Amino acid sequence: MKKYFALLLAGMMALSLAACGGSSAPASSEPAAETEAAEPAAEAEGTEAEAPAADTSAEIKTIEAGKLHMATNAAFPPYEMISDNGGFEGIDVEIATAIAQKLGLELVVDDMEFSSVITSVQGGKSDIAMAGLTVTEERKQNVDFTESYATGVQVIIVPEGSDIKTVDDLANDKMIGVQDGTTGYIYCSDTVENGGYGEDHVTSYPNGAMAIEALKGGKVDAVVIDNEPAKAFVAANEGLKILDTEYIVENYAIGISKENPALRDAVDAALKELIADGTVKTIVDKYINAGE
Ligand code: ARG
Repeated sequence: MKKYFALLLAGMMALSLAACGGSSAPASSEPAAETEAAEPAAEAEGTEAEAPAADTSAEIKTIEAGKLHMATNAAFPPYEMISDNGGFEGIDVEIATAIAQKLGLELVVDDMEFSSVITSVQGGKSDIAMAGLTVTEERKQNVDFTESYATGVQVIIVPEGSDIKTVDDLANDKMIGVQDGTTGYIYCSDTVENGGYGEDHVTSYPNGAMAIEALKGGKVDAVVIDNEPAKAFVAANEGLKILDTEYIVENYAIGISKENPALRDAVDAALKELIADGTVKTIVDKYINAGE
């Protein structure tokens, strides 16, 4: 029975690998080669380095002039969360701020339920969806994705002393809490034949924090969520632990409207520069302890 989760994960890996390959495959009209070709110029040393970013911002259109609206769900530490002073912080927020800066724009964080981030971008209400957002084939039908800037894996959180010791035990008539609209929801709610546990065994919450509250209150037996938020939630809440499971890697990327290829290219180029010059790594290391 352990196979279920393993198979399911293997299936997802195939999907996410396909998703990865897909972004550089010539199947779509994505000008991946163009973007890459333009990159060295943007990275040129000296005075020229400023010019490409400035040029780009002149061409790109955002929903509000001078602003870059980021659709997210700020209950997903360490990627996005509300800081003590009520502002937004986290890996995604800092990377997006750096991207906006490069494009001569000011970042505005639009906090919403996770299940709305893609539709917000599709509907022209936000410019980018950045929310620890996993690249999937299905989502690629709705938005374009940039280069991936981080990886995540789905893990299982249970109360200490739970009789759920391995992924096998999740199949024993347990109730699993997930965040609405996430890959965790998609995997777990799938049919048993497809490696899931069935809709009846899954309860969706608007965000991870609420799923964790439900777990603490005994309303669900386990929570399936991405590994870094899982670590943050377990560290902040006594009596919970993460099960050792067979992990599978998902890629996080930024989703952008298919109707705004200029913005997609500009954001993608800026992100690639920030990856190449080590900015992204510095931001990630600030929030996630090295060596973990
Ligand atoms: N990586 C998962 C997904 O894309 C979960 C992301 C949840 N993000 C958030 N900000 N709540 O489905």
